Amino acid sequence: MLTTLERQLDRIVLRPARKCELGACCSVGGTASGEGPIEQVRSFWDLDAATYDNSASHNPRTALELAAWAGELRRLLPPPPARVLDVGTGTGFLALLLAKQGYQMSALDLSPAMLARLQEKAAGAGLEVKTFQGDAAEPPLDGFDAVVERHLLWTLPDPAAALAAWDRCAPQGRLVLLESLWGGTAGPGQRLRRHGHESLRRLRKEAPDHHGWYDESVRAQLPLSDGATPEQLVFLVESTAWGAARVVRLRDVEWAARRSMPSVLDRALGVTPRFAVAAR
Ligand SMILES: C[S@@+](CC[C@H](N)C(=O)[O-])C[C@H]1O[C@@H](n2cnc3c(N)ncnc32)[C@H](O)[C@@H]1O
Repeated sequence: MLTTLERQLDRIVLRPARKCELGACCSVGGTASGEGPIEQVRSFWDLDAATYDNSASHNPRTALELAAWAGELRRLLPPPPARVLDVGTGTGFLALLLAKQGYQMSALDLSPAMLARLQEKAAGAGLEVKTFQGDAAEPPLDGFDAVVERHLLWTLPDPAAALAAWDRCAPQGRLVLLESLWGGTAGPGQRLRRHGHESLRRLRKEAPDHHGWYDESVRAQLPLSDGATPEQLVFLVESTAWGAARVVRLRDVEWAARRSMPSVLDRALGVTPRFAVAAR
């Protein structure tokens, strides 16, 4: 009998790779709004762009957190001025942090509003980031030294196809996936922690992290929409041309995030475990 993990891996890896699965779905259905899944994903993030950075988990702001992220990234990436592509860059947390360290940054995202926000921030900080609007599975083929992503994989219809495309745009380069344990795959302990933080946030009358959530019909087409374990991601990476994977727990980032939390109760609940899966 298949275990849940095996069934999920089947969905991630063993499905035949199609060039644009969402596109295929668009042509057979769409929704009452007339939008197909890819347009729904884009619209979701276009709407989210205005408030995305208000969340401390999306946009760590304290000097300690930024320094911890910078340190972890330097250990995982080739040294600057390497050419790095940040896929699903959003408002550019990674792209801007790396540009500040002297990396030559390119950033790709489906959402024009997210990219506009990134460009606004880059201009404000006097940093240069080359932006591309489009699908993660169709990156610019620029021979990058590294490809990075943070919290993109869960929203891709075919994560294995995207990883294969990233390998083609960095054939000699490095892969760094920055992820955390969340959603149904995180287990009951993490879910309790998350509920605790959400209750505290509501008590403080703070807005939620996002303006809404994906439609169930869209989520059903995203194999990792409930999060992914490190085991699943190692299996996924190793099933592609990237080959042998390494896992690094991002303890400095966790430590800095915990110290930067707004209350003693938040600090007592602790932080979401974060990790990187790297290859080459
Ligand atoms: C959870 S946000 C993460 C943003 C950023 N990486 C960060 O760490 O803050 C997911 C981002 O992926 C983008 N995205 C979703 N589906 C995509 C796709 N198929 N191709 C490219 N970008 C996509 C969204 O527009 C959004 O900006």
